[in-house]
Amino acid sequence: MGSYTISVIHGDGIGPEVGVEGVRVMQTIGAKFGHTFTFTEYLAGGAALDKVGVPMPDDTIKGVKDSAALLFGAIGGPKWESLPHHLKPEAGLLKIRKELGAFANLRPAVVYDELLDASTIKPEVLKGTDVLVVRELTGGIYFGPGGITGDGANRVGINTEVYSTAEILRIGKVAFETARLRRKSVCSVDKANVLVSSQLWREVMIDLSKSYPDVKLSHMYVDNCAMQLVRNPRQFDVIVTTNIFGDILSDEASMIAGSIGMLASASIGGPVGLFEPIHGSAPDIAGQQKANPLAMIGSAAMLLRFGLKLIAEADAIEAAIRSVLKDGLRTGDIAKPGEKTIGTKAMADAVVERLKK
Ligand code: IPM
Ligand code: MG
Repeated sequence: MGSYTISVIHGDGIGPEVGVEGVRVMQTIGAKFGHTFTFTEYLAGGAALDKVGVPMPDDTIKGVKDSAALLFGAIGGPKWESLPHHLKPEAGLLKIRKELGAFANLRPAVVYDELLDASTIKPEVLKGTDVLVVRELTGGIYFGPGGITGDGANRVGINTEVYSTAEILRIGKVAFETARLRRKSVCSVDKANVLVSSQLWREVMIDLSKSYPDVKLSHMYVDNCAMQLVRNPRQFDVIVTTNIFGDILSDEASMIAGSIGMLASASIGGPVGLFEPIHGSAPDIAGQQKANPLAMIGSAAMLLRFGLKLIAEADAIEAAIRSVLKDGLRTGDIAKPGEKTIGTKAMADAVVERLKK
């Protein structure tokens, strides 16, 4: 029976409408298991730019650091796209990941049998897929030195991929430890045939694997991995990779799960974890009750599992998600053509109802 302060950032687009449902599900689980969750809301992204002129206010960072975990909606939208780089909502997200030391981003892509038809990929290829992408989140080309210099035709834009042995080791450990709880196989994805940063990545993974003799380590170039993910996704258990490769491969993996509206994520490694759906702010459907809240509800489950170590509570939420899918409830993104769909709140209601049973 615990008492926890949870930070909430609703953000922009569909962030607020899925966010309230994530909070509601956590309140329900709190009541069921006898925990008290106190939610504190903070500004970030476009919402913060409009109010205070920066995408990640210091107050937000301070408040989040003082809490047990952060439930994050989504940020960004056309209104803020043309701002200078350091003021874009995305810059705010990178800042809080870095500030929290959240170097490990876990992005599971699980195919539910009920949603086999929701993907554009053939059901027989997908059936039984359960991949976890472990993406390095606070290093690599996202954070390496760079800038734009020069004039005219000589103007150059530079970003640099930088990884230290220590950074590779710590993300590698997360991958191996997590694989131990799953099917004990890690595929390290790099571009070691071209990039020396990847060559170091691979050497460190091989060294580290000696401490995990029970886990099988394999390697794959990122281009091949992009192909293998749609050719035969069942071959993967845990994929560990760099920040930018993980960004790209996790979007690809989301299509395996049928819809990006299903995928949750956990960003951990520091004292306070950040938990967010990977779908982004989807401004085109914002405010219309069309968004699938299950990615956000799944993120609340990851918050409980990885942030607060409340395993039974997380299991209960995931079982409720499975149950609503089994009962045929569908938001637009996961419905077959002609199938009846329900809205954001109605889908969350169905989850809450099952949790109360
Ligand atoms: C993601 C997003 C972010 C990223 C953007 C919004 C900064 O694409 O979480 O995958 O590139 O990390
Ligand atoms: Mg991305």
